[in-house]
Amino acid sequence: MTQASSAARDAPPPTTDATVGAEWWRSAVIYQIYPRSFADANGDGMGDLAGITSRLDALKQLGIDAIWLSPFFPSPQKDAGYDVADYCDVDPLFGTLTDVDEMTDAAHSRGIRVIIDLVPNHSSDRHPWFQQALAAAPGSFERDRYMFRDGRGPDGAEAPNNWESVFGGPAWTRTVDAQGTPGQWYLHLFDSSQPDFDWSNPDVRSMFRDVLRFWLDRGVDGFRVDVAHGLVKADGLPDFTPPGSAGSMGGQGTTDSTAVLAPYWGQDGVHDIYREWNQVLAEYDGQRVLCAEAWVDPLQKMALWVRPDEMQQAFNFPYLETPWSGAELRRIIDESIAAFSAVGAPSTWVLSNHDVVRHASRLALTQENPQGHGIGPETADRPNIDIGLARARAASALMLALPGGAYLYQGEELGLPEAIDLPDEARQDPTWFRTNHERYGRDGCRVPIPWDADAPAYGFSATGASWLPQPDDWAPYARSSQLGVAGSTLELYSRALWLRKTHQLGLGAIEWHDAGDDSVLWFSNGPITVVANTSDQDAVVPTSLSEATRALESAPAPDGGIPADSTVWFLTP
Ligand code: GLC
Repeated sequence: MTQASSAARDAPPPTTDATVGAEWWRSAVIYQIYPRSFADANGDGMGDLAGITSRLDALKQLGIDAIWLSPFFPSPQKDAGYDVADYCDVDPLFGTLTDVDEMTDAAHSRGIRVIIDLVPNHSSDRHPWFQQALAAAPGSFERDRYMFRDGRGPDGAEAPNNWESVFGGPAWTRTVDAQGTPGQWYLHLFDSSQPDFDWSNPDVRSMFRDVLRFWLDRGVDGFRVDVAHGLVKADGLPDFTPPGSAGSMGGQGTTDSTAVLAPYWGQDGVHDIYREWNQVLAEYDGQRVLCAEAWVDPLQKMALWVRPDEMQQAFNFPYLETPWSGAELRRIIDESIAAFSAVGAPSTWVLSNHDVVRHASRLALTQENPQGHGIGPETADRPNIDIGLARARAASALMLALPGGAYLYQGEELGLPEAIDLPDEARQDPTWFRTNHERYGRDGCRVPIPWDADAPAYGFSATGASWLPQPDDWAPYARSSQLGVAGSTLELYSRALWLRKTHQLGLGAIEWHDAGDDSVLWFSNGPITVVANTSDQDAVVPTSLSEATRALESAPAPDGGIPADSTVWFLTP
């Protein structure tokens, strides 16, 4: 057995783009930037566009292909910018349109593509259209752009139906006119400050085609489409009681293709919209993309979003939700590849984002924790930090060996855990307020990331300000503590990305081998053979690999085995 050098960047990956012969997004690693929490250039404690530009070299060095930015548009920030008041401008919190252009140019000059967030299901209640709708009469064209309805019961005092908001509480709010008289109700699948558009209205469709063109003209490479399964609601808005956790984003973890769909998720009509958008993108050169946030299952249904005339990618949430179990991971990997390849699309892989508990904590939870509920000081099931980190490193090393596109969430390359002990008064997620503090929500994965162990706010902001407080014990996670340090999580990611690109794993195919033990995954993708051990016992190296070079290890293996909760990549001739 030979040990590969741990120097991740001993030679640059081939300069031939890994996309030769295939569109870039089929194999891309896309890094999610949460602008509020990435880097703050002006010292106000809120990350901004200039901060992103200033840190692009670090991302280049990491080896990613593209960035996706969560929203930076003008917004009252009731849902951290997913409440958009103007789709074609920048919130002063984050900078200006010029800053977007500079950031995009700076990314492009480094070979990094730029994807931005598009939020079409709802606007902010401060959007001019909604303000006009409130001022207009029932039945007016202004109201028809949103979902206004009369209430039920005498005086219309009951909501038009029983739907619940994803963030808790009813999905309807009653309007009150200037004289204080209660009026119609409007639908909001999320916060009451996020009224849902009516996508049967041609004005709404045409406005969003213009929004796409506005940003495509500015040179962005594509859009991550928020709540891409929610835009169309079933006729008549029938009552519905979800089978799983109330207020979920959909996707109840079912493999049953006949399972009843919520009348607000995954309706067939959404596909016409994406066919239209596909045509808009096709007017532009440079392989622009749409990526769906569509929490629908089974995977065969999700794959409908990425048929050849619709979007290019969809986040593989069933993969994200799979527990750290060899048998379950193998099943979901096979199902994902089969479902997406049946429509000619690559699978994607994702383990963390700004809506879920960071996987360095989530993978050590022992009880069910539905998406969006979060964990906090009173959570009984407090994850073991060492087990969580070991599993996260192993899970990421496994993910990055799979063919298709992969999404990373800022900070996971540092091994960041969820910030559990945020003080109540610091929390900002609407979920926390709409459930009367019953659900912690998503703030714990949104804390500004640490760059420099010794600087104020760990280098996030020169003044030390931070819109969510950073834990006191994050210095070891800072980039400065890990860069060039053999065995660090940052070096593990850099090396995995370098090997992935060098051997074109994103365009490869996997072949399973029988490890004789369900908890051990063993497969090859081209010259890389991966063994992932999900059990809490060390596993032995399969005999056929005993002479192979160990190209990557997620955990130290002084005895040459496959330690518990670890993944090893072997380079085979
Ligand atoms: C998506 C976003 C989430 C947001 C919600 C409403 O799920 O990822 O952060 O709260 O949509 O826009």
